[in-house]
Amino acid sequence: MSNVIKVYFSPSSTTKKVVDQIASNFTQEKETYDLLNFDSEKEFAGDDIVIVGMPVFAGRIPKSGRERLAKLKGGRTKAIAIVNYGNAHVTDSLLELVDLLKENNFNVIAAGSTVSHHSIFSGVAVGRPDAQDIEKINDFAVKCREKIESGASLESEIPGNRPYTDYKQLPFVISCDDALCAFCYDCVSICPEKAIPEDDPIDTDLDSCSRCTACIHICPEDARMFTGEAFEAKKPAFEQANSERKEPEFYL
Ligand SMILES: Cc1cc2nc3c(=O)[nH]c(=O)nc-3n(C[C@H](O)[C@H](O)[C@H](O)COP(=O)(O)O)c2cc1C
Ligand code: SF4
Ligand code: SF4
Repeated sequence: MSNVIKVYFSPSSTTKKVVDQIASNFTQEKETYDLLNFDSEKEFAGDDIVIVGMPVFAGRIPKSGRERLAKLKGGRTKAIAIVNYGNAHVTDSLLELVDLLKENNFNVIAAGSTVSHHSIFSGVAVGRPDAQDIEKINDFAVKCREKIESGASLESEIPGNRPYTDYKQLPFVISCDDALCAFCYDCVSICPEKAIPEDDPIDTDLDSCSRCTACIHICPEDARMFTGEAFEAKKPAFEQANSERKEPEFYL
């Protein structure tokens, strides 16, 4: 009996939401690899169906997510590849994800880019994925099921270029309000870059921080946030430039 395996790197939880939604269209038992918490080698095999979700970070999949995903090997397991972006640009991220899965011996049968609330610029794609997105995601999942039954692989061309666009470090500051911090250390545990010192969660090493947002999202006191001149200056123009709704795109 095959299982449906959910694999995602999802600092602010919307990629997880999309992967969960696709998986809900399958009746098989579910297994989860949350790559913010799972950083080990693993080989899948047999009839399992692996649904892999990555957010888009500056046109790529996140470097840490990539490194952790690279430790998972497919054994020709069928895979569905999803990149989830904040209504700005997908750039080379979906091509990168599909390439990586194929390199790791997954049999990619379908792929897609979905739109979710922008995890840095809160005014972009507010409330997404919404009911319209969910309907499209469910239609896609049904087509994936049919494709798995037919035994076919991915036939569509995936947009993007090789070599992929260079990694970019965003210039925004992540800060912590020490008056709000309750010293629970959840942010220290979740940070994939070990950028928050174990003995001082108020601090952030901005050289190693990828601005992934996991610490902001997990903080129960809302003590962590983007701040600084570069962020405040960019926000209105970015929100204006990306206000027009983009739609999910699927490839079979
Ligand atoms: C560091 C960083 C870079 C991002 N770069 C892009 C981008 O290039 N294009 C885009 O549309 N959204 C971009 N986003 C927004 C995320 O892709 C989007 O909010 C996604 O839903 C986040 O997924 P998560 O909720 O699983 O963390 C970026 C977000 C972060 C934190
Ligand atoms: S400190 Fe930076 S890398 Fe670490 S969780 Fe926060 S945003 Fe992500
Ligand atoms: S998660 Fe929030 S409250 Fe907990 S240590 Fe980090 S900043 Fe402080």
